[in-house]
Amino acid sequence: MPLAITLSGLENAADLAQLQALAQKLSLPICDISKPGACAPSRFSLSFINQPSLIALSLTASSARETPLLSENAEEPHLATNSLGTNDSETDSAEMDFAGYSTHSSKILALSSTREEFKGNIHIDFVHGKLGHRREFGGGRGQPLARAIGLKHGANPTVVDATAGLGRDAFVLASLGAQVTMIERSPILAALLDDGLKRLAAELGFSEPGLSDIAEQQLHLVHANAIEWLQNQTENRPDVVYMDPMYPHRSKSALVKKEMRALRALVGDDEDSALLLQAARCCALKRVVVKRPKGAPLIGDGNNPVKPSGNVQSKNTRYDIYSVIPSV
Ligand SMILES: C[S@@+](CC[C@H](N)C(=O)[O-])C[C@H]1O[C@@H](n2cnc3c(N)ncnc32)[C@H](O)[C@@H]1O
Repeated sequence: MPLAITLSGLENAADLAQLQALAQKLSLPICDISKPGACAPSRFSLSFINQPSLIALSLTASSARETPLLSENAEEPHLATNSLGTNDSETDSAEMDFAGYSTHSSKILALSSTREEFKGNIHIDFVHGKLGHRREFGGGRGQPLARAIGLKHGANPTVVDATAGLGRDAFVLASLGAQVTMIERSPILAALLDDGLKRLAAELGFSEPGLSDIAEQQLHLVHANAIEWLQNQTENRPDVVYMDPMYPHRSKSALVKKEMRALRALVGDDEDSALLLQAARCCALKRVVVKRPKGAPLIGDGNNPVKPSGNVQSKNTRYDIYSVIPSV
């Protein structure tokens, strides 16, 4: 069994109902690890983890667990993965509707693994950890991503992030003032994003009202294949389409390697990125921006790379900027 919804046996009735609804929505089996032998251990599990203050209690009470539900540092968006290995592109395009399972309290939906190569968990935290740091110290509208999108001189373009992933780039753009629609085709990642958005909207309004406004007004999630979604946009076309498809990661950093390995194992390689670029250029009104590692080849099929009209570069990243294809 590669992936299951894991119950610790400690869930209250509301949590249980939420996890059962999620299992049904994602067609995943449920495994209650508090009952030894009740199910085969899964390599990867989707479950609620608690905020740091509640973690110790959870660990003591469930020492027989086969699957640790905690990351080494619950504030960092660690990654684990499953072995679905597909792009989930067969999933019906639909606006996210995970109401009924997600959490607004201290619970965080997380994908966890005990496997050494992926150990840790994927959960989305738009406020703390890396994203909190990037929001505070990332360089504002002067940072390369913002310049590539065209966020200069007070402009607030509408942006479709066609490859939302963990929502990091989308959140940075939204927190800088852009109206961002995130599109993600993996149902697992879409569920994690939905959970992160709900926590952003509900919990954090108390401490930083501006953040909850972002969740409610500027970041919108759509679970769909972006190629089809972009092709179907006749009205309300976005100013900019942004894409960051999976690419071979050559970084020597063990953490990055682990993250990228995990994400790739979860969603597969994005081999249709040339098609996505074409759909993006036909849909965007102003420009398309493609994120690549510095030195990586241009997007395109084989010997036919699609040439951008320019780029913005940072230390490790290149943002290729493409003109739009006018509709006939
Ligand atoms: C490298 S990750 C993006 C990371 C993201 N920029 C971030 O800041 O977290 C690529 C993601 O794009 C998604 N993706 C790739 N092609 C897609 C498509 N045609 N439609 C929707 N999602 C797509 C993959 O499922 C994967 O989650």
